[in-house]
Amino acid sequence: MNDNAAGRFPSGFLWGAATSAYQVEGSPLADGAGPSIWQRFCRTPGMVLGGETGDIACDHYQRYTEDVALMRELGLKAYRFSMSWSRVLPAGRGAINAAGLGFYERLVDELLKNDIEPLVTLFHWDLPAALDDRGGWLNPDIASWFAEYADVAYRKLDGRVKHWVTHNEPWVVTDGGYLHGALAPGHRNRFEAPIAAHHLLRAHGAAVQAYRASGKHRIGLVVNLEPKYAASASAEDQAARARADAYMNRQYLDPVFKGSYPEELREVFGEAWPQWPAADFELIRQPIDFLGVNYYTRNVTRYDANSWPLKASMVRQPHATYTETHWEVYPQGLTDTLLWVKERYGNIPLYVTENGAAFFDPPTAEDGRIDDPLRVSYLRHHIAAVRSAIAKGADVRGYFVWSLLDNFEWALGYSKRFGIVHVDYATLARTPKASAAYYSKVIAAHAVVP
Ligand code: BGC
Repeated sequence: MNDNAAGRFPSGFLWGAATSAYQVEGSPLADGAGPSIWQRFCRTPGMVLGGETGDIACDHYQRYTEDVALMRELGLKAYRFSMSWSRVLPAGRGAINAAGLGFYERLVDELLKNDIEPLVTLFHWDLPAALDDRGGWLNPDIASWFAEYADVAYRKLDGRVKHWVTHNEPWVVTDGGYLHGALAPGHRNRFEAPIAAHHLLRAHGAAVQAYRASGKHRIGLVVNLEPKYAASASAEDQAARARADAYMNRQYLDPVFKGSYPEELREVFGEAWPQWPAADFELIRQPIDFLGVNYYTRNVTRYDANSWPLKASMVRQPHATYTETHWEVYPQGLTDTLLWVKERYGNIPLYVTENGAAFFDPPTAEDGRIDDPLRVSYLRHHIAAVRSAIAKGADVRGYFVWSLLDNFEWALGYSKRFGIVHVDYATLARTPKASAAYYSKVIAAHAVVP
């Protein structure tokens, strides 16, 4: 009986934790870095809760050796982080900032020295401000700008980095950044959203193409998937479910794996839905080596004439547990999602590149312990859900908790804590929570969820 048939995790499974540059690094303008759109967004009144910024965040930029030592103590096998594009190329293209690139080189070396596998995301939402001035994701040239930046990263680090990710969650970039305006760059425009989505996908394709020219390892894409379940068998609810699923889940995967957009998007965007040349889909549809899935919650969907633009809204489940970000805890959705990917797009290697929850973590006890039983339970059930997907045939090769550290939760500032390690924002002291100890045990047992 092989590992999978026994319901265990395959050998070499990457047990990790994830962060992203703007959320943890701090020092956003240090050593010659250029500003990103988040730098600006945080300085636009009313956009981020409490006017908070990533200026200090977790100070990971200066404390990365301490953080890597902590990862080692926890027994992590892998660390997923993102590179800040404007640290590497302050104007987004052109001149390389050697000091900025040097930071990532030192971080990778430190990880490898500690036997921790780096998984590097090239774009986790912090677009260089200089490129936003030229239209950002609305400018078709961004595909080549992104490939140029990616190539700089590959040439410097591909000898040491074996897993590359182009984008983190393109859906969030367009939905938050261009449709609803809740995230940087803060646009609220139905016409822009499908354009931004398309150029994100073209940029992804261009970066994969560049990788094939110079890279020797593996490259993939990370999407956030949220399974949609219809609230009832009515035709209206079923159609609402299909629209929500097309918009959030298939909008980014169908073009990458099948070379076309889901039909429902025409209905969602109406006159704002553009036509694109066939050649664009050739670029987008580059074979990738793995898919990263970020999973947090599910959505039970019903028809709602007042919800724009989907005409679909979420039905709250009366008996469920909800996290501090109002997300239903639903581990079965992770198994369903991993199996859905396999069924719809084929048996591609998968990584759960983010999974975790914000809960209210009680104040530090006298002895310094931080108990976070809800997070422990969340992790236990979601890890079991991954194991169940593997037992049913999904080729899942790793799991990354979001997040290693409490950090800057975008428009919600520091109000939500996702970390398995508590960060005291006054002193920047790190204290592993009970969930970190639990996760350590899981990793040590390797195949067994205690
Ligand atoms: C993002 C993270 C974010 C997390 C929790 C994901 O959408 O990739 O940056 O902090 O979810 O909201």
